[in-house]
Amino acid sequence: MVSYILSIDQGTTSTRVIIFDPLGHPITTAQKTMEQSFPKDGWVEHDPHEIWSTTLALCQQALKQAHLKGESIIGIGITNQRETTIVWDKLTGKAIYPAIVWQDRRTADYCQSLKEAGYEQQVLSKTGLLIDPYFSATKLRWILDNVPNARTKACKGELLFGTVDSFLLWNLTGGQSHYTDATNAARTMLFNIHEQSWDNDLLALFDIPEALLPTVLDCAAEFGHTQNGMFDCQIPILGIAGDQQSALIGQACFNEGMVKSTYGTGCFMIKNTGTEPVISKNRLLTTIAYRLQGKTTYALEGSIFVAGATVQWLRDGLKLFANTSDAELIAESTPDTRGVYLVPAFTGLGAPYWDPKARGAIFGLTRDTGIQEIVTAGLESVCYQTCDLLLAMQEDSASPLTTLRVDGGMAINNWLMQFLADILNITVERPVTNETTALGVAWLVTLQANIYQSLDEIASHWSLQRCFTPVIAEDKRQQLYNGWLKAVERVCLTQ
Ligand code: G3P
Repeated sequence: MVSYILSIDQGTTSTRVIIFDPLGHPITTAQKTMEQSFPKDGWVEHDPHEIWSTTLALCQQALKQAHLKGESIIGIGITNQRETTIVWDKLTGKAIYPAIVWQDRRTADYCQSLKEAGYEQQVLSKTGLLIDPYFSATKLRWILDNVPNARTKACKGELLFGTVDSFLLWNLTGGQSHYTDATNAARTMLFNIHEQSWDNDLLALFDIPEALLPTVLDCAAEFGHTQNGMFDCQIPILGIAGDQQSALIGQACFNEGMVKSTYGTGCFMIKNTGTEPVISKNRLLTTIAYRLQGKTTYALEGSIFVAGATVQWLRDGLKLFANTSDAELIAESTPDTRGVYLVPAFTGLGAPYWDPKARGAIFGLTRDTGIQEIVTAGLESVCYQTCDLLLAMQEDSASPLTTLRVDGGMAINNWLMQFLADILNITVERPVTNETTALGVAWLVTLQANIYQSLDEIASHWSLQRCFTPVIAEDKRQQLYNGWLKAVERVCLTQ
């Protein structure tokens, strides 16, 4: 009997469940869009119970679609939007506050005060992260300080904290497993990435009771079994990784120096730096790529908060077109944006600027600017932001980067990928399987289930679908990118 892997990919804008065969071919997909809540300027929240109920329903739907019983599933993998912070009651399982999403900027002033008090170096040296509202620590502290009785209950051990992986795992296992994996832990700003443990100094700095925190396991591990009665049999959960690290695994970037960029809500470029953490001189993050059999592989990461969300905004907010694919057609038929730049700093700017107070803007408008130029500028902004990251990564690297593996929803846009290759001036490779995020955690399950014994075996399944090579003239490239740099300068408030 063939065994399959069920991957849960709980992302910012949608939840997907994909069932893969052991060769990494997707058999079926069930998907649902996530409700977004923006209660105040810079605030972004999700309903944790919607996250859970949708995930469970999609798992059941995917099994039904594939005509599979639980016994055909060798294991479940969970990959997730990282940093998003949930606190729930240990007894009732009810979240005490909505999930505070990674994009949420409500703790910007507190982060600024920590920087002014001189904590940046300590946090960086322990966690590899820059102090920013992006990470979970200040969001968790905010919940404890603002939800009535939360701190008292947390100190009594009545509450649990988790990123989305932990919350899903706890629910899948009927409250049996309060675990996370090393990649998700590394994004909380509470985890010491060198010692691989929660850091007491940071717990004290952020005033977080340790009883709240999940136990940190390897990415491929025995995370527990689904609760009796949830499916027709109990299914083991064997793999967990944050979505960007999972995509790195799905892209088979297992050798030091390999780089991938995923275009989802945001864009995240990750470079495998091997067994030693590399501290960036260019405001990139040092993070954990994966931890397997107790051995940690590190990564450098550039995080852009808004990529695909720009297209969503142009489509649903401004209603400039009806379907996402229209953006590609519009850009194809637009010879030139004529100096229009869209800086999508809707929730501040991430790497390498790290300006939580910056806000979006469109520059260079003239009387004849139309929908075409604005939509094209929106797509171009994704490539310019990737270029910001690539240049920072180049400066941090001993050897020049020549190839970038791409994936995620926006990577299917051929116009975008060509413009990306042109602006980056490197080869852009798109794999056959665009679902690399869900695939990565499926590979983790196969490792834990002993279907594969090595990362090399997994890498042999990666194959190229299309390669984009730069064709633009160098002076044109420079001119376009310089225009972007000037536009960004004008939205940055803290530079
Ligand atoms: O760090 C945030 C990231 O994990 C979110 O990914 O795919 O939901 O945009 P995505």
